[in-house]
Amino acid sequence: MDKERFRTLFQDRLIQDVAQQKIDIVLSGQYGKALELLRDAEATGLFPALVGPPGVGKTILCRYFASLRAKEKKGRNFHWLTMDESIKPSHFIGSFDPAITLKHGFTIEAFNPGPLLSAMLEGGTFLANEINRATEYSQNTLLEPLEEASIGIPHLGRIQADEDFFFICAMNPEELSGTHRLSEALKDRIKVWIKLTYPEKATELDIIRINLPEQFMVEESELELIYSVIEETRKNKIDIEVPASIRAGIAIAKLLGRRRYLESKGIVEDEESVYVHLADISKHVLLGSIKPKPGVKVENIIDGIINKTLGG
Ligand SMILES: Nc1ncnc2c1ncn2[C@@H]1O[C@H](COP(=O)(O)OP(=O)(O)OP(=O)(O)O)[C@@H](O)[C@H]1O
Ligand SMILES: [Mg+2]
Repeated sequence: MDKERFRTLFQDRLIQDVAQQKIDIVLSGQYGKALELLRDAEATGLFPALVGPPGVGKTILCRYFASLRAKEKKGRNFHWLTMDESIKPSHFIGSFDPAITLKHGFTIEAFNPGPLLSAMLEGGTFLANEINRATEYSQNTLLEPLEEASIGIPHLGRIQADEDFFFICAMNPEELSGTHRLSEALKDRIKVWIKLTYPEKATELDIIRINLPEQFMVEESELELIYSVIEETRKNKIDIEVPASIRAGIAIAKLLGRRRYLESKGIVEDEESVYVHLADISKHVLLGSIKPKPGVKVENIIDGIINKTLGG
């Protein structure tokens, strides 16, 4: 891609302002309550954590909350960083551009601010996503910002955060594999713990509906069947370590919706029953959407689930 084309496409697609983004969110059940708690935490200057398994809506809730704040106070953007073992303090704070530094030294012009520093400077929202996957060394970067609302930048000095700076973190529960523990020092600075789990049926169906493109809408009875497949993965705690998330239900519904769309246009024949279609689609989605316990074959689990919910 040539430079000019890259520049134009990039500028067209640059997200300038979280307040301008349209976020389709369902706020019934646990989500409304969680949003209220986030607002309470913000008003009292306490830092919250969202804790829940993959795909229960932690990120979308943070984005929505940040967009509300940004609408109320202009220029307060949303910044986030998703963590794993390779994340270093410079990923939070920022770093010096080697070429510019070589020419002009450790000046402010040579420094590219990271997401945490940006949020602290402009009074925005910083989300530390998957915070318990970061090493303790990296988690320690957050201690000063959370305790003193300040942070030291090597060679440049120490800044005090804007008074509207707000921090949220999100994590999967610690018992799931692949997660470091949260350091005790950091834990002690997070004061509002908000648990999210798989939503109740009515809420989850609303979430699937809101995420379905209009032309791929499915019937209510079909939504019920999709939910029964997803719910079944959450019941089988003996064989399944991580069950299907909300994302899996949305994916199944989209694939079925597209099938229905093609049938309605006469592009494909409508010969088989919904059970046969749904069994086929569910297999393709569930294969990568559930994590079996060690020694259990995922194909066997899926066959069992489909037999039970869609009658084989
Ligand atoms: N309340 C909701 N309203 C609308 N859509 C939702 C809601 N909750 C979850 N979703 C949808 O479900 C999917 C997963 O949500 P999200 O990415 O926020 O989950 P997460 O908890 O951050 O997952 P992970 O732990 O994998 O990062 C997204 O497609 C999102 O749009
Ligand atoms: Mg997320």
